[in-house]
Amino acid sequence: MQRFGNLSKLKRAIGLMSGTSMDGIDIALIETDGQAVLRHGPAFTFPYSDSFKSRLKDATAAARSLRARDERPGVLGIAEQYLTDLHAEAIGYFLEDTQLKPADIDVIGFHGHTVLHAPERRLTVQIGDGARLAKATGIQVVHDMRAADVSAGGEGAPLVPIYHQALAIQLGKRPAAFVNIGGVANVTFISDEHDAELIAFDTGPGNALIDDWMLKHAATAFDADGETALNGTADETVLHEMLSAHYFIEPPPKSLDRDAFDGAGVNGLSLTNGAATLAAFTAESIARAREHFPQEPAIWVICGGGRKNRAIMTRLAERVENAVVPIEALGLNGDSIEAEAWAYMAVRALEGLPLTFPGTTGVPGPTTGGVIVRPEV
Ligand SMILES: Nc1ncnc2c1ncn2[C@@H]1O[C@H](COP(=O)(O)OP(=O)(O)O)[C@@H](O)[C@H]1O
Ligand SMILES: [Mg+2]
Repeated sequence: MQRFGNLSKLKRAIGLMSGTSMDGIDIALIETDGQAVLRHGPAFTFPYSDSFKSRLKDATAAARSLRARDERPGVLGIAEQYLTDLHAEAIGYFLEDTQLKPADIDVIGFHGHTVLHAPERRLTVQIGDGARLAKATGIQVVHDMRAADVSAGGEGAPLVPIYHQALAIQLGKRPAAFVNIGGVANVTFISDEHDAELIAFDTGPGNALIDDWMLKHAATAFDADGETALNGTADETVLHEMLSAHYFIEPPPKSLDRDAFDGAGVNGLSLTNGAATLAAFTAESIARAREHFPQEPAIWVICGGGRKNRAIMTRLAERVENAVVPIEALGLNGDSIEAEAWAYMAVRALEGLPLTFPGTTGVPGPTTGGVIVRPEV
């Protein structure tokens, strides 16, 4: 990978990510040639209303019966239109706020929203209509970036590792583990050896179980700063039981659906002890990722909303050697890394560069992807 970008190929790209936490749309702008990143930001989050969140939950429930990526029966088709229109609206606000025009943007990387991720059935489904978004914004869109990987035999997740690698090189931090704590948590191990293969996988739950617990028992969307968890004590017996799941010893690559773990073990615990146990579950399962790395990371760089949960961060720091830092410590915005990654991958898709690798999704060889839609179509 080049350390400095190819200026003649520099593109201004916007990434759009609607994560499994269903909290909203992250939007970020970067400038990149698809290899090095020359400029980060601005970025912001466009939160979902409660009514849209429940629509997304219904769509996710309806998606369980899907048998093909492109089926959109009933509520799924309606949710897809709404979701796409919200993304177009978010782009409108973003452009207004940054005083940019559609013509200033080369491409939008559009993730859409995962309603089903069933790698065992070689099926991952994201709703989001790329053509509708291109038409509404007047900007070229790259979407459906997981599809080519899945049809080539990959898990279709995680995709963000190629971006984590670019950041590790840019920041001069290797060997490093980059962790994203979203609804699910995933890790990328970047070696300090030249041309070593990337290793990446979903580590286990991120915030989803904690969010579900807080919504059910405290009627709040999440455990702000991990305060509830910090006021409780993790139940080590329950934790031990949850960590005995076979998933953790499976060799990577491997990936998870949002609801792969149900957290039923904490039922019956108090609000604070349940939150503490679930935060510890997330932290311990991230720490166990080390079992699959060839080297000890010199640094653990944490992105995603879960980095703000102090109970997760403290327990993780206790478990691993070397520093655990939120990515802000390295001068980047931890809320926008995934959206930036989608912008980065859109440019890579335009250049025909690979998005996924045998070590990241289990795809047989480096694979590009994405469907490119131009606004006039
Ligand atoms: N201040 C905070 N304290 C604790 N957790 C937080 C905080 N802010 C956000 N989160 C968690 O982060 C989640 C959103 O993280 P995000 O990285 O957007 O995940 P996703 O990619 O799944 O949408 C929220 O659902 C919440 O659980
Ligand atoms: Mg989010």
